[in-house]
Amino acid sequence: MRLNQKVAIITGAGAGMGQAEAIGFAQQGAKVVVADMNLEAATATVEAIQAEGGDAIAVVVDVTQFEDLQQLVDTTVKTYGRIDILVNNAGIFDYYTNSLETSEELWDKIFAVNVKSIYQLSNLVLPHMLERQQGAIVNISSVAGIVAQMGGAAYTASKHAVSGYTKHLAAIYGKEGIKINAICPGTIRTPMTAKMLETRPTNKIPLDRFGEAHEVVDLAIFLASDEAKFMNGALVPIDGGYTMV
Ligand SMILES: NC(=O)c1ccc[n+]([C@@H]2O[C@H](COP(=O)([O-])OP(=O)(O)OC[C@H]3O[C@@H](n4cnc5c(N)ncnc54)[C@H](O)[C@@H]3O)[C@@H](O)[C@H]2O)c1
Repeated sequence: MRLNQKVAIITGAGAGMGQAEAIGFAQQGAKVVVADMNLEAATATVEAIQAEGGDAIAVVVDVTQFEDLQQLVDTTVKTYGRIDILVNNAGIFDYYTNSLETSEELWDKIFAVNVKSIYQLSNLVLPHMLERQQGAIVNISSVAGIVAQMGGAAYTASKHAVSGYTKHLAAIYGKEGIKINAICPGTIRTPMTAKMLETRPTNKIPLDRFGEAHEVVDLAIFLASDEAKFMNGALVPIDGGYTMV
């Protein structure tokens, strides 16, 4: 198994890509801490993992609340003794809201969930990883963290911030045994996008289709595993070729 006995925190693991990653990680032997603000959703993910004989716990966390993040890290260490993997997945979308239509409130909300929470949770987890000189952080950025026009003003700026923060972490902590990389998904069918995709064309995607949540899982497993030892600060697109040109 590729993640045998590794302890993984995955935020936003109650739905979409986070849920698919949680189930996929557990299938590879990881003990998964399913962190989500939605208790019912987090519990459903844990039950799906346990039904396959896997090991997981649910922790209710609003990633914008520092005390919740502290409690998440404390619960993980108390339950499983260490943290090997952090997947910063929780994020929200602005549904292509242009700058002039973006309120300060929307901007702040997008940045609180998509950016500040990643900095705060990484800072809580990194000392545990540095103590053992090993660990992997996988940030879920987006193709909107590479190019424009795959989100609105706040989302695009927030995902570019995630990409930049990933590179910063990798530059500073990579040589201390921590692998830090980002996944940049193209348009993936999840609860976040399902409604919007009913009317969105696929013809700008070279594969002429949207992605499915389970298609991102193997990349996340690879980046979280010991197989990715020489990966550092990479922003890996998984987008049907959208950003290839
Ligand atoms: N779906 C796409 O097309 C797409 C493309 C590129 C990047 N992404 C990114 O991938 C990540 C996952 O997206 P998704 O489409 O699976 O999302 P989703 O909306 O389907 O699921 C997100 C999960 O995160 C949880 N969540 C939301 N805000 C939270 C908070 N403040 N605290 C804790 N949990 C919270 C939700 O309850 C939900 O369970 C996000 O960072 C998103 O920006 C998505």
